[in-house]
Amino acid sequence: MDVTRRTFLSASAAAMVGSILLPRRSTAAAHGLTAYGLTAYGLTAAPVSLPVVPGQPDTVLWGYNGGFPGPLLRVKQGERLRAVLRNDLPQDSSLHWHGIRLPNAMDGVPGLTQPPVRPGESFVYEFDCRDAGTYWYHPHWASAEQIGRGLYGLLIVDEASPPPVDRDVAWVLSDLRLDNQAQVTGDFRHPMDLSHAGRLGNTALLNGRLAEAFAVTPGERLRLRLLNAANARIFNLRFAGHVPWLMALDGHPVAPRRLETGEALSLGPGMRADLILDAAAAAGQRHAVTDTNPRGEAYRLFDLAYQDGPVQSRPAARWRGDPPPALPANPVAEPDLARAERLALKLEGGAMGVLTALQVDGREVGLREAFQRHRVAWALNGQAHTGTFPGGGHAGHGAPLFSLSLGKSYILEVFNETAWPHPMHLHGHAFRVLDAPGRPLRDTVLLEPRGRTALAFTADNPGDWMLHCHILEHQAAGMMATVRIG
Ligand code: C2O
Ligand code: CU
Repeated sequence: MDVTRRTFLSASAAAMVGSILLPRRSTAAAHGLTAYGLTAYGLTAAPVSLPVVPGQPDTVLWGYNGGFPGPLLRVKQGERLRAVLRNDLPQDSSLHWHGIRLPNAMDGVPGLTQPPVRPGESFVYEFDCRDAGTYWYHPHWASAEQIGRGLYGLLIVDEASPPPVDRDVAWVLSDLRLDNQAQVTGDFRHPMDLSHAGRLGNTALLNGRLAEAFAVTPGERLRLRLLNAANARIFNLRFAGHVPWLMALDGHPVAPRRLETGEALSLGPGMRADLILDAAAAAGQRHAVTDTNPRGEAYRLFDLAYQDGPVQSRPAARWRGDPPPALPANPVAEPDLARAERLALKLEGGAMGVLTALQVDGREVGLREAFQRHRVAWALNGQAHTGTFPGGGHAGHGAPLFSLSLGKSYILEVFNETAWPHPMHLHGHAFRVLDAPGRPLRDTVLLEPRGRTALAFTADNPGDWMLHCHILEHQAAGMMATVRIG
């Protein structure tokens, strides 16, 4: 199955997605309740039925507050966020705040930082948002199924004075695996997905809809906040007719630079990018935003559709073409590269790999048996952590793979010895990707097959943190570990 099924859905049936819900703070406050620098939200996880594919029956999903994606949460940098999760799902759940450097007890990993939130129960998350940027929330229980059914949303932390733009909009990119009635297929943790590329959907979505176009006004300057919330799909985005500025990766500012013509913006699952895009084409024009699959085939996700008719206001005209100012850096401690201790992390296993045996939750097993009996296919430094109990949660976490000293700097050298790409994510920290241009700060790094990288960070947040692949089927099939700090 692949996304080309999209083409059988008639193009004319697909919807025009306008500017989606990015309330400015005043409106956000109507949903979240702000007082004394604390913004409070309620998030109820429950089944919901929504029109995802135009002209098809509504799709039964799991969503927050009846939405897919869930509501956009927004706070100002330095403010405190309170979110009360109520679980009205038929299974346990939790909320993880991907990319937020928060106290360990608020990280939302059942079995590691809190008990699972049972059906009918609630859990109160509360933490300060120290870093500005684009973050997201999702369950960390049975993630492959719960995210694969639609449970995720954006958390935006606003800079004290955000750069001037005409519109600040979110593009939540994802996919779903749908049957011909537009219903989510139930084949979660399918053996093929566990050991190969993960659960690739067959319908790529923009903000939870199969979209034909995104409407823009000639002359406007947009801040685009992109999130890849798919279980497994890696988006390689190109913007025909446009040269957007790359402003931030995984929430953290980079020195603004233009994406070269034809250069792809690569976003693995869990990753985000902030762009500034000047809508410089003329009324009535359409330009495709495309994705390229691993076979190198490009397909159109949707068009940037320039509205016809009179332009209402052109406040952005004065910005056109000017380089946007860099976003202010977040207060992340710079790792001390000269004194950093080096650690090695080997990613192993999967189909077409060389791994033959590994430790499953501390016990030596052959790969074949591991797969047949435990549905384990991957290892980190020879160890697979499953903790994948009935339902695919992970209430059990093995001994830490690394035990780090609080406050010390580390360089994690990562070697991908598999035939597959892996977006590796560390909780509770941001790391510098030492061999990427500009050494960006990120919380998730995409390793190419047989690729390697080096990540530098200060272990300044005490607790037990997850380190895992964000292809959720790889995570479920062993590709996760605990990093203990303190
Ligand atoms: Cu986006 Cu461990 O999570
Ligand atoms: Cu992976």
